[in-house]
Amino acid sequence: MATELKVTVPDIGDYQDVPVIELLVAVGDTVDKDQAIATLESDKATLDVPAPEAGVVKSIAIKVGDKVSMGDAVMVIEVGAADAPAEKAPAEEAPAGEAEASEKADSPSPQPSPEGRGSSSLPLPPGEVDATASGEGAPPADETLPAEEAPPAAETAAEPIAVTIPDIGDYSDVPVIEVLVADGDTVEKDQTLVVLESDKATLDVPAPAAGVVSGLAIKVGDKVAMGTAVCVLSGAASRASAPEKTKSPSPQPSPGGRGSKSLPLQPGAVDATASGEGARPASAAAPETATASDTIPYASPSIRKFARELGVDLAKVGGSGPKGRITQDDVQGYVKLALAKPPAAASAAAATSGSGIPPIPAVDFAQFGEIEVKPLARIRKLSAAHLHRAWLNIPHVTQTDEADITELEAFRKEASEESAKAGGPKLTLLPFVMKAMAKVLEAYPEFRASLSPDGESLIHKRYTHIGFAADTPNGLMVPVVRDVDRKSITQLAVETGELAAKARDGKLKGGDMKGGVFSISSLGGIGGSHFTPIVNAPEVGILGVSKAVIKPVWDGAAFQPRLMVPLSLSYDHRVIDGAYAARTMVLLVKLLGDMRRLVL
Ligand code: COA
Repeated sequence: MATELKVTVPDIGDYQDVPVIELLVAVGDTVDKDQAIATLESDKATLDVPAPEAGVVKSIAIKVGDKVSMGDAVMVIEVGAADAPAEKAPAEEAPAGEAEASEKADSPSPQPSPEGRGSSSLPLPPGEVDATASGEGAPPADETLPAEEAPPAAETAAEPIAVTIPDIGDYSDVPVIEVLVADGDTVEKDQTLVVLESDKATLDVPAPAAGVVSGLAIKVGDKVAMGTAVCVLSGAASRASAPEKTKSPSPQPSPGGRGSKSLPLQPGAVDATASGEGARPASAAAPETATASDTIPYASPSIRKFARELGVDLAKVGGSGPKGRITQDDVQGYVKLALAKPPAAASAAAATSGSGIPPIPAVDFAQFGEIEVKPLARIRKLSAAHLHRAWLNIPHVTQTDEADITELEAFRKEASEESAKAGGPKLTLLPFVMKAMAKVLEAYPEFRASLSPDGESLIHKRYTHIGFAADTPNGLMVPVVRDVDRKSITQLAVETGELAAKARDGKLKGGDMKGGVFSISSLGGIGGSHFTPIVNAPEVGILGVSKAVIKPVWDGAAFQPRLMVPLSLSYDHRVIDGAYAARTMVLLVKLLGDMRRLVL
């Protein structure tokens, strides 16, 4: 049968009005037993309030920013019907200060301390000081004086002080997760010596006085309980030389005792048997020092556990919560980012040698003969990086063929002579190939598209700006001719000539090399047959043109001498299918074989 369990703030010792810094559940959520449902923050401890039982959250009586004290209502959990839809219980059903469950479940239900609030501790007081411990005549902590009015504390450890773990309630065997001092260290009063972490709390053990640490008796991993020796503080440290650490009144040994109840919060509010007997010094006021030392990530116990489970080093996570506290979102964001990034080693290698590909080992060439080391020209370095990126990122395929340009060459020569006679430009093969390619791009537009950076879509371009590779003394450059489809071959000859001259003279401007949709690399004036040009990313295709040579071509009856130009069409196989590329090549070959088709 479903019952309602009112969860209240457990015994949080001398402290009242502790801010709620995080609510970890919402109405309707199903919670497991011991699951953290809210986080409270004091100056020396961050504590989770766990669910006392598994169930469904019916109502929540607190919100972030509220200040709560022992017995204040936190929420109502319906237990015994975890699968049932949660009915919204009005917050009034769990009035602040009510310490009992309406119907007690198996777990201990919150009970007010017989002494009221405040005889137990939440923040750890300064480490136990044997010399000052006094159990007699302890007034309730409510009567504890504010720091300003408290009796003077031991500012420095004039007499050696044996520092022990203070009262941590019923808990024992709490692991030490950080030891922040070493023998010989000079510490300030209130400076954190060690950090403990229980299932539900992260706690600092501060120095009860300034002094020099000796006899450190504790190490990370040790499990400690109240009274465990931490170290000895001795020799009055020079306060002038000590770093300014504490901004607020220091904890003072209280004349009174404090309760025996736990420092780590029990599930829900548990029976608070706080008592002033067996008293020990209690802190009178929380110092405003950071929750932990500057080196300790500021996070609640549940977040620490969460980070540990994911293998996240909290020191590397930025906190977006109040006072820079690390939240669950921060940890998740860090993990997402880490997964999105290549490992540091791989990215470092990628910068020089590709995606994690082992670098080429360095060789001392001088051992084999004379060498001269010449720094690379800037353009060569830039184009090297660009080509490397394209080579590594693009799955290349190169489609090859040969076009019969016998008639085209005859026409080109004739037209070039006429042009020269009329004072026009020399007509090389390149402008003809460009013009044919512009026509091909109209028919096969994927060759002038680009893949979106996320690889999710294809960006089609409705313009036909074509780049051409120009060999210059400083390295390869790719100036771009705009709107090739709308220009005459003579215009293209003029523009390619001018751009090639500018490239050789180092006079190209940035804009001259931008906006291309496709590139042509012509080595025809030099020699060689087919080659495999590298796609000029983010373009998806490039045409290589090699030297045309006369070859015997079978016409069905006899071999005919024909001028054949080798063509190499490289493409990004992520975008272009092989069949598409082959059809593209077939059309190009056809157009170059019969330029009359250009006007169709
Ligand atoms: N087959 C046979 N002859 C060819 C030819 C081809 N495919 N392409 C050009 N020629 C001829 C030209 O007709 C010209 O002959 P001519 O002097 O008898 O009239 C001669 O070769 C020289 O032409 P070129 O100066 O290369 O002019 P172009 O317009 O063809 O090329 C550039 C201009 C800028 C592309 C060229 O000079 C260049 O730099 N090419 C190198 C490109 C490169 O480095 N690519 C590699 C990139 S990885």
